[in-house]
Amino acid sequence: MLLYGPAGTGKSLIIGAVTQQIVDLCQSKGERFGVVNINCQPINTLDQAVFELVQTVANDVDAEVGVPETGVSTKRKYRRLYELINEHYDSVIFILDEIDLLVGRRTNEEPAYSKLLYQLSRASNTNEIEGQVSVAALTNDPKFMEDIDGRAESSFNPRDVYFPDYDANQLRQILENRRDAFRPNALTDDVLPLVSAFAAQSHGDARKAIDLFRGAGDLADERDDEKVREEHVRESQEEIDKDRSLKLIEGLTTQKKISLYATASVAYLSNLSGSSVPSPVGFKVYQWVTDEIDADQMTRETYVKYVKELSTYGLISTARKSRGRGGGMYMEFTFTGEPEAMMNRIVDDTRLGAIADQEDILQSVVNAQLREFHK
Ligand SMILES: Nc1ncnc2c1ncn2[C@@H]1O[C@H](COP(=O)(O)OP(=O)(O)OP(=O)(O)O)[C@@H](O)[C@H]1O
Ligand SMILES: [Mg+2]
Repeated sequence: MLLYGPAGTGKSLIIGAVTQQIVDLCQSKGERFGVVNINCQPINTLDQAVFELVQTVANDVDAEVGVPETGVSTKRKYRRLYELINEHYDSVIFILDEIDLLVGRRTNEEPAYSKLLYQLSRASNTNEIEGQVSVAALTNDPKFMEDIDGRAESSFNPRDVYFPDYDANQLRQILENRRDAFRPNALTDDVLPLVSAFAAQSHGDARKAIDLFRGAGDLADERDDEKVREEHVRESQEEIDKDRSLKLIEGLTTQKKISLYATASVAYLSNLSGSSVPSPVGFKVYQWVTDEIDADQMTRETYVKYVKELSTYGLISTARKSRGRGGGMYMEFTFTGEPEAMMNRIVDDTRLGAIADQEDILQSVVNAQLREFHK
């Protein structure tokens, strides 16, 4: 089987629940059904994956692992895996969660997951495993099968099970079952529908819906409010949104961080212009910052390009402005989020940390440049 769909749509949960039912059913008939469930996310190579499978089975049946983690061939590990399975299970399902992350180290070769799928799904045909073998691969990636080698595809040849985003009603049912996380009567009537609506609107991810639900409760708790109300949900959602855009900043290149930092400092430290930043002023401050931390200096065009790019992330909005007769055009940047929070996130970066102590000087640079610009 191939279970695929976006994050938080219940793939891992459902496969676990369904296989547990099969285990129970088989047990009542004296059959030994093995569930070998691994998450591929922390695993780097095919060899490690096979070892992880051996370990999981050994653990489940209380047997010796029987092979060392390193120093023996992958083939030996496969052999030990089959041996353990034949000895302890009548039939088996391999669950390979987040399988698309098992790519292996060698980039030009068939990916590790493709090799693993090939081996496991034909193990019953080749009599390496005596009983029935099923393989369930779980992934977010809808194009996952495109990178599977032809041989692997024909032996794995899965039935697709698609997990779509949850809608508001489904999310509401899921959250209903978690009411017991709250004190009796702590939830006002609008909380559950609102959490479900927010979550359905923005992602359909049950994990995030549960986080929002809990977040609203935590907020009420922090404030010693007896009840969780609509406002707690709204504020909790705002926190989550804010956090998301700040996280995004961490992934920017140093040059983009400097550009954003300089621009944000104009919005935050200026005594004059509120929160909008004319690009010529932002660029002057950018030049000052690059000098201070001894970084490369890009052209004004590049600076503007970087900052405009940030508008696609929703951190800022941009507008073209005219300086009036003969004055030419410039861009004006307006922050949607809090510039101060962005600056703080940026100076977490070691390279830019040095600038954090110089806020006074930075402020005078900002205001001098603004005065110059508005002259
Ligand atoms: N139908 C459901 N009923 C109750 N809880 C659910 C349901 N679907 C998902 N959840 C809960 O939502 C969270 C995310 O579900 P799960 O981990 O199964 O998602 P997933 O599809 O495997 O996501 P990912 O692709 O990120 O691995 C879990 O806490 C799970 O218990
Ligand atoms: Mg999962």
